[in-house]
Amino acid sequence: MFFTKSVLAAGGLATLSQAHMLLRTPAPYTSPALQSGPIDASGSNFPCQAQPGASFVGTPTPMAKGSKQQMAFTGSAVHGGGSCQVSITYDNPPTKASKWKVIHSIQGGCPARNTAGNLPADPNLQGSDSYEFPIPSDIPSGNATIAWTWLNKIGNREFYMNCAPVAIEGEGGSESALAGLPDMLVANIGNGCTTAEGVDVKFPNPGSSVETNVDEGSLGAPQGSCGGGAAPARRARRASFSA
Ligand SMILES: *[C@@H]1O[C@H](CO)[C@@H](O)[C@H](O)[C@H]1NC(C)=O
Repeated sequence: MFFTKSVLAAGGLATLSQAHMLLRTPAPYTSPALQSGPIDASGSNFPCQAQPGASFVGTPTPMAKGSKQQMAFTGSAVHGGGSCQVSITYDNPPTKASKWKVIHSIQGGCPARNTAGNLPADPNLQGSDSYEFPIPSDIPSGNATIAWTWLNKIGNREFYMNCAPVAIEGEGGSESALAGLPDMLVANIGNGCTTAEGVDVKFPNPGSSVETNVDEGSLGAPQGSCGGGAAPARRARRASFSA
């Protein structure tokens, strides 16, 4: 698809009054109510668009360890795509202090592949792209929360986060396997980590399950102090120091 500069500019203005994207699959929490807007720039409703003290209500989707799961969205304001992560926490409910561990990273083309601007405006659109992600076979069983986070390519510098309750099922699993997963990258909410407009974010620590939909060379790292989400994996750091 080809957009002239004026069409892009008009699209940018249109997004001000247009709904963004909502997580549809897996079924999100019914409370806190899902909003399609980004996390507040102050971080006040991080995580999951929940105000402090909000109760989390929803029916967990069962997910077997080692299975493949689908992620799908409602809406059309895909902002030229961007980069997304699927992360998990077992904190119930999740809080600002929760550790989110990455189980899948999508670099470029999320939440729509090969889309230069927005899809034709329709806040109820369910036909945009879906994505597959694996449930690691070695993480603990139990009720958990899965987060979809999105760093949009075009438009204001924002951080989107919708959450869904899940029940991780199956034998085995360990806390140490969970701890070994990368930390979720958090940016653009006043935490000292930012991303550039027009660039699909390259996750400094994407983990072992990665879908990259654009030329690797076109990806750009986040800037600033990005915390655990930007730290090299512990094993890799040790290896480079001993080399
Ligand atoms: C998981 O959540 C379900 C439904 O909310 C609840 O019935 C069940 O007791 C929870 N399981 C554990 C281990 O907390």
